[in-house]
Amino acid sequence: MVRKTLIAGNWKMNGLLEDGVALAKGVKEEFKKTGRRDCEVLVCPPFTLLTSVKKAVKGSRVMVGAQDCHYAEKGAHTGDVSPVMLKNVGCDYVIVGHSERRTNHHETNELIAQKAASAIKAGLKVIICIGETEKERDAGQTIDVCTKQIMGSVPEIATAQNTVIAYEPVWAIGTGRTPTTAEVEEVHAAIRKVVSKKLGRANANKMRILYGGSMKPTNAKELIALPDVDGGLIGGASLKVADFMAIIAASKQ
Ligand code: 13P
Repeated sequence: MVRKTLIAGNWKMNGLLEDGVALAKGVKEEFKKTGRRDCEVLVCPPFTLLTSVKKAVKGSRVMVGAQDCHYAEKGAHTGDVSPVMLKNVGCDYVIVGHSERRTNHHETNELIAQKAASAIKAGLKVIICIGETEKERDAGQTIDVCTKQIMGSVPEIATAQNTVIAYEPVWAIGTGRTPTTAEVEEVHAAIRKVVSKKLGRANANKMRILYGGSMKPTNAKELIALPDVDGGLIGGASLKVADFMAIIAASKQ
């Protein structure tokens, strides 16, 4: 297999200590039982739970990631967390450029590229999120928007080894709506072409492109089976062990 499937849970701003640790332990135990090595599993809890979740999944292949980072290594940035700090507490990954950050925190492509570059330099892998709004889709601008976001928010030092792209149509996040499988494949194939233009064909062929936005046990199989879909970035359904495990099970080719 050229690209190993990645199933990533983005817990967003959910989870207190007890339930976060219980969720992580549940995923660890259930994933261990599958014995699978053909698929990578990642959980991305809020900053407050990173250390405890890392401890909870110890002894398993479940990886841990953060949901954002600053681009600086340290300094006067009240409330921010640096990639070096994330690496220090055992993070494997960090998500950057999620649409909730682009919207709520006015993050630009340029800032996201800076964050991604710093995270890669700190030894983390990055998941860079892109995706169009409903208005942009209705106006037929989906591919244009995604192209601009990739060109602007994927840093020059990105490779297939250190970077994953997540295509998350903004209108599909938390709404229960998804594009059709044909629409998803069309965008993913277009994304791979843009990555090829930016980072070369070898990187494009090997880079994982995840789908995110209302992925659930009931639709995961058909989405992950698409040729250019290499896994999922899951919000709501990653908060229940059974749902998250069902999505992992659906990723079996
Ligand atoms: P939902 O799975 O809740 O739609 O969220 C998707 C998402 O934003 C993952 O980053």
